Amino acid sequence: MGKWSASQAERPRPLIRSVEESLALAAARVQRPAPVEEAPVSAAVPAAESSAPRAQADAPKSKSFSEQVAAVLAGILVQEKDAPKEASKEAPKDAPKEAPKAAAPQPVHTPAASAPKAPIHFGSTQRKAPPPPPLPPAGASPASRIPASRADEPLPLAMRPVSASNKLNTREFVFTIEDYENIRRRIYDFAGIALASSKQDMVYGRLVKRLRERRLKTFREYLELIDRDGAEWEVFVNALTTNLTSFFREAHHFELLAHRLRMSQPLTRPFRIWCCAASTGEEPYSLAITACEAFGSLHPPVEIVASDINTQVLIDAREGVYSSDRMTGISEGRLRKFFQPMDGEHSSRWKVIPELQQMIRFCRINLLDANWPLQGHFDAIFCRNVMIYFDRETQRTILQRFLRVLEADGELYAGHSESFLHASDLFTSAGKTVYRITRKKK
Ligand SMILES: C[S@@+](CC[C@H](N)C(=O)[O-])C[C@H]1O[C@@H](n2cnc3c(N)ncnc32)[C@H](O)[C@@H]1O
Repeated sequence: MGKWSASQAERPRPLIRSVEESLALAAARVQRPAPVEEAPVSAAVPAAESSAPRAQADAPKSKSFSEQVAAVLAGILVQEKDAPKEASKEAPKDAPKEAPKAAAPQPVHTPAASAPKAPIHFGSTQRKAPPPPPLPPAGASPASRIPASRADEPLPLAMRPVSASNKLNTREFVFTIEDYENIRRRIYDFAGIALASSKQDMVYGRLVKRLRERRLKTFREYLELIDRDGAEWEVFVNALTTNLTSFFREAHHFELLAHRLRMSQPLTRPFRIWCCAASTGEEPYSLAITACEAFGSLHPPVEIVASDINTQVLIDAREGVYSSDRMTGISEGRLRKFFQPMDGEHSSRWKVIPELQQMIRFCRINLLDANWPLQGHFDAIFCRNVMIYFDRETQRTILQRFLRVLEADGELYAGHSESFLHASDLFTSAGKTVYRITRKKK
């Protein structure tokens, strides 16, 4: 690799669309063709209908969760920070191991914010992309955009129908087995999240406030609402993701990355990292801090794409404000160097410095989408603590797509409780939960 020069350091940013821009485009139903001169690694995501304006009109007057999401859909940066966050440690330990046998109900949905996105362009080494799948007509209902490959699949074994339970019907709202089945079918089809039958209470708890807020009487009404209201669909998806994260979580990955960054100097081009389940931002900011430290500069030649399916966590991540209790993984030295107190010297909230924010582009990407709006290749993909929510088949599909966006010598970082050994033909272990592309034997 050649030397990293000052002129390169002042390079223009690659074509990366922010989450606000992407979602604003969704709201405007603008379908953007991929750039002609460079084929994207993955073709643009199918256009999506946005019902944000309608949702805003319907919504209650108080500043609600759905209003915040609708505001994003309209391209407005919402500044409120203290939206509810899920931090439960639940993970589908009983994740399915084989394909299901049960007959599946018809899949139903796809969301408003699966917006058409211009590809996020990285790097100079472009590969020819496959032709994009046909787009549904603008204004098509959400149901028409469930990935065709999943639409007729039966549910995985761990998602076998739940048994009858009185508990389901001793609550403020009747929550039937059918309601639960319909909910988990939708989130599985759309996000790949395989909710175990034991998660009924969790699902009820996360969605019940939506019924209250939308003044609905039954979960059936709520299901009908998300079927026709894209903004509420977005809130539904956001509610069913689990976003537990922390700064420098599973710290040895950051030490490995720092070592790799130091070894790769001098660079001929920026080092590129995709953090593909970024949650509220602690992980991508930890990556940015690691890069600054490895290069001894607040302007290291490192570019980070931070994506997530959850639009609300992306708003929080982009804002980069954290309460003291979220700063546990941050040393005193890092706190002083990379964060600014929000409320004076004895602050209870801290904001990341602008230099870190400038290194990161936030955008919404559903890992289940067949086409990610990415171009070029990454030197590292951080895909940590999200695959655990998917069944093996889904994991394999995503791993295959990672091959298209990872440099030949790139590294894939998984969560400590995740293993991709079942896909050893695709990725080979290169240490503790770090993987490299499996070399094909000649
Ligand atoms: C438990 S958090 C992990 C956050 C971070 N990677 C870490 O290890 O601390 C899982 C994240 O994956 C996101 N997620 C779930 N399903 C997804 C999907 N289909 N596409 C993209 N992100 C998804 C959730 O919204 C959530 O923010």
